[in-house]
Amino acid sequence: MQRVLVTGANGQIGSELVAALRERAGVEHVVGADLRPPPGAPAGNGSATASGPHEVLDVRDRAALERAMREHHVDTVFHLASLLSASGEEAPDRAWDVNTNGLKHVLDLARACGENEGRRDGADHSVRVFWPSSIAAFGPATGTPAPQQAVLDPQTMYGVTKVSGEFLCRYYHQKYGVDVRGLRYPGLVSHAAPPGGGTTDYAVEMCRAAAEERSYTCFLEPATRLPMMYMPDALRATLDLMDAPAEALTARTSYNVGALSFTAAELAEALAARAPGGFDCRYEPDPERQQIADSWPATVDDQPARDDWGWQPQYDLGALADDMIGHLQAGFKSKVEG
Ligand code: NAD
Ligand code: SER
Repeated sequence: MQRVLVTGANGQIGSELVAALRERAGVEHVVGADLRPPPGAPAGNGSATASGPHEVLDVRDRAALERAMREHHVDTVFHLASLLSASGEEAPDRAWDVNTNGLKHVLDLARACGENEGRRDGADHSVRVFWPSSIAAFGPATGTPAPQQAVLDPQTMYGVTKVSGEFLCRYYHQKYGVDVRGLRYPGLVSHAAPPGGGTTDYAVEMCRAAAEERSYTCFLEPATRLPMMYMPDALRATLDLMDAPAEALTARTSYNVGALSFTAAELAEALAARAPGGFDCRYEPDPERQQIADSWPATVDDQPARDDWGWQPQYDLGALADDMIGHLQAGFKSKVEG
């Protein structure tokens, strides 16, 4: 039976990935880890919360990570703990430390577990790793659509950590045989946990405002077009990649995965068509986040992911807007009435 550790478990992706993995593998087999207990849980270290096992730890602390992996007999790590693009520009030293050293600790521990266990009984107990890269690995020199074998040209500290992380993953795979797999996620849209300091966060904020019948001031220009993806597609891509046979994989840096490509104005229009009273969206671009968005491609070429492990997105913009508005309106109504 799989024993999984998810770092960054309280975040936008982690909170939904933990739930999806627990549904597959059983609650006790999936351990969350983050700087804090999951929302709603009592504070404390190493705790089994009401929703399942969870470790309070900092991924920069290698010993804490090692203890968690050993105590829970972990064989798969989904390493999501990270600072994102906008928060990384506010704290570039911390972004480098968390994103790069956190990943190196996970890869070192995965490598060590495989070597130690292999020596003891000859069996393959190596730890598998999933680690996400991002469209932030690309930049102005990349071009659109961004190819799989792209010119990586990051303009942010976050993007720099993604590029170095991609090559670190490939190195550990080639040199030490660590089974590490990755995706270059586009901007992710979800209705569950809020996004955590990224440039594509505007899309979630806009959906929430439309569902709550509020006006919204967007921090990007209306014509800004970026690669985006709805969370159910992102979770499926993640799980499908980890389920794929190792011999099918040709990219050990990170796979491009495409789904949607829309402008801020196109999203606002799709939401206005679904909001009973219409939707008032204004634009006041924030220079720093606009510059970051302008450095990213509008679309990606994901043919290798389609060929190697059958990637196929399911949500278009209309389906995303329907689903987001439905969930957010229901949540808002129950909050107002409750
Ligand atoms: P998020 O900001 O919502 O969550 C990150 C989590 O990591 C937070 O809960 C935070 O508390 C935790 N964390 C931060 N520093 C930590 C530390 N030192 N030790 C332990 N935990 C720490 O981010 P997310 O959107 O869930 O992203 C998860 C991963 O996916 C990241 O690697 C991110 O770069 C990548 N990604 C996300 C998107 C997106 O649109 N959400 C797009 C591309 C790539
Ligand atoms: N959604 C992320 C961000 O905006 C991209 O990695 O930072």
